[in-house]
Amino acid sequence: MAYSEKVIEHYENPRNVGTLDKNDEHVGTGLVGAPACGDVMRLQIKVSDAGVIEDAKFKTFGCGSAIASSSLATEWLKGKTIDEAEQIKNSMIAEELHLPPVKIHCSVLAEDAIKSAIADFRSKQAAKKALPGQ
Ligand code: FES
Ligand code: FES
Repeated sequence: MAYSEKVIEHYENPRNVGTLDKNDEHVGTGLVGAPACGDVMRLQIKVSDAGVIEDAKFKTFGCGSAIASSSLATEWLKGKTIDEAEQIKNSMIAEELHLPPVKIHCSVLAEDAIKSAIADFRSKQAAKKALPGQ
């Protein structure tokens, strides 16, 4: 099956591949797997005190569309607030990358990874507030 030019472009020049310190209280980590194919995606966000995503990194063990979806997702995440980041839908990613129907779940993986990273960040913040003396 032919990949779209945009998928190939992200696949050959992936943006923001890497790792952030998962123990940093400003970092949220999402780790998700696709039941359909077993591919795995890790996506991390670093959130400023003002609530803005100042950095995003990913590592994807999966197909070209999953790598392109996560690369694009990290580009979109940077500079957004958490609330704005939550509005990113897999359909937006699939449309931007012209994913065919059999590759839609690759973009779902990216949306799931974003949501999972945000949930991890929020639970860290909640835990911090719950600590006495802080
Ligand atoms: Fe083989 Fe996704 S199904 S890499
Ligand atoms: Fe499964 Fe792309 S084929 S994530």
